[in-house]
Amino acid sequence: MCGVVGYTGKNQAVKYLLDGLSTLEYRGYDSAGVEVLSPSGNLHGVKCVGRVATLVERCKTANLVGTAGIGHTRWATHGAPTDRNAHPHTDCSGRIAIVHNGIIENFQELRRDLAAAGHELRSDTDSEVIAHLVEDAWNGPAKGDLAAAVRNACDRLEGSWAIAAICADAPGQIVCTRKGSPLVVASTPDGAYAASDVMPLAKVTSHVIQLDDGDIATLRQDGSVAITDRDGIAVEHPSTMDIDWDASAATLGGYSDFMAKEISEQPAAIERLLQGRLGKHGVELDELSMSDEELAAIDRVYVIACGTSYHVGLITKAIIQKWAKIPVFCEYASEFNYSDVLVTEHTLCVIITQSGETADTLTAARRMKGMGCRVFAITNVLGSSAARESDGTMYIQAGPEVCVCSTKAYTAQMVAAVLLALRLALVNGQMDQAEVERHFHDLEQLPGLISEVLKRRWQDKQAARLFRNAHSSLFLGRGVNSTTAYEGALKLKEVSYLHAEAYPAGEMKHGPIALLEPGFPVVAVVPADHVHDKTVSNIQECIARGAVVVAVATDGDEAVAKLCQDVLWVPPVPDEDLFPIVGVVHLQLLARYVARARGCDVDKPRNLAKSVTVE
Ligand code: AGP
Repeated sequence: MCGVVGYTGKNQAVKYLLDGLSTLEYRGYDSAGVEVLSPSGNLHGVKCVGRVATLVERCKTANLVGTAGIGHTRWATHGAPTDRNAHPHTDCSGRIAIVHNGIIENFQELRRDLAAAGHELRSDTDSEVIAHLVEDAWNGPAKGDLAAAVRNACDRLEGSWAIAAICADAPGQIVCTRKGSPLVVASTPDGAYAASDVMPLAKVTSHVIQLDDGDIATLRQDGSVAITDRDGIAVEHPSTMDIDWDASAATLGGYSDFMAKEISEQPAAIERLLQGRLGKHGVELDELSMSDEELAAIDRVYVIACGTSYHVGLITKAIIQKWAKIPVFCEYASEFNYSDVLVTEHTLCVIITQSGETADTLTAARRMKGMGCRVFAITNVLGSSAARESDGTMYIQAGPEVCVCSTKAYTAQMVAAVLLALRLALVNGQMDQAEVERHFHDLEQLPGLISEVLKRRWQDKQAARLFRNAHSSLFLGRGVNSTTAYEGALKLKEVSYLHAEAYPAGEMKHGPIALLEPGFPVVAVVPADHVHDKTVSNIQECIARGAVVVAVATDGDEAVAKLCQDVLWVPPVPDEDLFPIVGVVHLQLLARYVARARGCDVDKPRNLAKSVTVE
């Protein structure tokens, strides 16, 4: 949450800062601000509540001239979204400014100490203390050395942070550091750049430097970047990363919104993910970095994730248990972190995280590593913390997912999980090569099937009318498709703000059935599978109470067509366990159409941020 940018170089800083903040806006969008060092030697800034577009408008009249600056887009944790609480925050003199992503856990105590020492704190944020601590250090032990002042300030902080600092008395310098929150920097002939993730940097370079926790990077106007570790020792060979995707992948490319674009990119993403995966020895999954003997010895799997990725976890659990016959625990990371864990010597931990930066998931992974488990990450973001901290990483290669609501990462992560299940089943003898190949060929049909669903989007548009004026809705499904129901309800809530409850269909009569009344919209996921008739009975129970039912069903299902108000048709999927990967696409489309009909911004739903970097 919160996006941080910094620039110092030959060009006007404000252009990169505003462009960078627009790219990072998915990280938070309740207020934004920039601070630039002017040629007269003073800091000048603009900050305001609202989207980056509002900041861009304000900057047009503010005339922020200068070749070094920092910027921020905020997702409020401490202090309401107000102009006063927007970043950058300055020290008492107004000559030092900082931007921060993360949470300063001991901020109350620091505020008290700083106020007692005569500092004037002007916001309600936890972040502002950093500016005053840097001020103290600058005037004290750091003796006018900005990097030393930032290091000194960090020594007093508890929590997590990615910080960029600028000081009017250290012209041309930006100092950055991180602990627990992501930050990357880049050195180019035009200047040196900093950002919360690689996306803003992809427009200016293909080579970025990843800071490690505790590293302090000093960016200078000549484009150089000098890095020291937490002890002030120069880091000669920082970890670097090549950006191998085109910056245009993160632009709308003719679509009206990123959600529409990303939904339509699913066939291509899955095709990419499957390329070159089938070899002579089953599914190639070298990223596991484990020998076949080690894999065959796995006797328990923990799958840990949050939100949509947790739903992928539920599918992962079902498929690994069914195919590889290994017991799987699927846990919400936020719950897992405070509960008992039952690990064995051969437990594998799988974390699933699109962004690779979700704080709860990372905490869980560290906990599992601490207990001696191997951690395998399924993620989309190259060089993310999840990838860097895990023993093995499988990149889903879905391309940047900008819409806060996850769509293409969801389906690609499910395919990655299926590949993992196939690998485990082959090495532990539950499947032979021929069976693995058969399943793999089923997977290869998914892009075509999803493309067919995309062609039927008019069905979702039509069904959206049933939800437009509703106050609530219910999503039902059985088996792996109870997860499709959970995911469909999450999508709808997230982008349309319409309440949606999701239940395994058979559980409905144990409580949620009380919600039903004439006109109440129910979505039933009812493919032609082994529990089809049971789900049809549940649909009948809904209809008997006046509910209007929209079904997600397999082509040709006359029984369902007769009962339901609308049907979102899915072409036959070769393996019923793979239906969730195709069927969910209708629910993504439905959520988007309902949201648009209700006038919601589908890409940036209220109160949310793409990357949840706080616990
Ligand atoms: C998905 O639509 C949500 N925005 C959210 O649930 C998300 O999946 C969750 O925050 C986890 O994110 P991650 O996959 O990046 O860890």
